[in-house]
Amino acid sequence: MPALRILVTGASGFLGGYVQSAVRAAGHESLTTACRSGDAAVDLTAPGIAAALAQALRPDVVLHLAAMSRLADCERDASRARAVNAAAAEALAERFGARLLAVSTDLVFDGRHAPYGALDPVAPLSVYGLSKAEGEERARAHGARIVRLPLLFGPDPHGRGASASLRATLQQGQVASLFPNEYRTPLHAADAAAALVELVVDPAGPGLLHLAGPERVSRWELGRRFAARHGLRLDLLQPVECLDPLRPRDVSLRGDVLVTRSLDAMLADG
Ligand SMILES: NC(=O)c1ccc[n+]([C@@H]2O[C@H](COP(=O)([O-])OP(=O)(O)OC[C@H]3O[C@@H](n4cnc5c(N)ncnc54)[C@H](OP(=O)(O)O)[C@@H]3O)[C@@H](O)[C@H]2O)c1
Repeated sequence: MPALRILVTGASGFLGGYVQSAVRAAGHESLTTACRSGDAAVDLTAPGIAAALAQALRPDVVLHLAAMSRLADCERDASRARAVNAAAAEALAERFGARLLAVSTDLVFDGRHAPYGALDPVAPLSVYGLSKAEGEERARAHGARIVRLPLLFGPDPHGRGASASLRATLQQGQVASLFPNEYRTPLHAADAAAALVELVVDPAGPGLLHLAGPERVSRWELGRRFAARHGLRLDLLQPVECLDPLRPRDVSLRGDVLVTRSLDAMLADG
């Protein structure tokens, strides 16, 4: 395949760094945008931005990662969450159609009917999940493609992601509370990024699919296995039941893409 110009939105985010590396590793050119950095630093909610990006950067395909991704931020400002997670996704889809692959989340589900396949009905509990589900629908109406991701982990210089934040907490000698009653299918961000690059370069690929990690585990089990593998202090881990009505209890995904590494191999790389 000839090298493509791949525009990565949200390039400064946790997943964005992994995606940029995966784009280069696959022999393509990575063009980047984020709010405050990248080849073009833009607010994707501004009018006319999709056309301006198309003209300035001339991407062949677009991997749309940018999002208001923290649950609490979305609850605090639902209209901003809808603007970033739904309206901006639609604006990009209007411009790029099937050349846009937008990522979504397992949190579009309510956690009562896991494991979830890509065609199962969404039922979000939080503003974040709702805004992402709306973004999926509005982007798909213009022919864009959607990949739902599970909880991601992996090293991060800013302590973002499920494992880097746990590592930072334990290394500071602080207690880490982990939910034994929240189940996910976690995936290393590097594996997610490699799969996303394979998918984005094929605009004829499926319109909606799930990328899932290799095992269904609770947040508690994930944290314990990660900490044990890296010689971190297990005595600082504390199981705490999740009572938050905004957090679904089991959003394990049935994956549509083969992930070859085991969870233990991913955690070793964590
Ligand atoms: N991390 C996970 O576990 C996980 C799980 C499932 C799905 N996802 C999805 O994966 C994607 C990436 O997540 P992440 O964890 O990498 O997120 P993140 O670390 O919060 O990064 C968000 C990115 O979006 C950019 N952004 C936010 N608002 C913007 C706006 N109005 N205009 C332009 N750029 C904007 C940010 O730019 P600045 O840095 O300049 O503000 C940043 O680059 C998101 O769509 C998220 O919903 C993530």
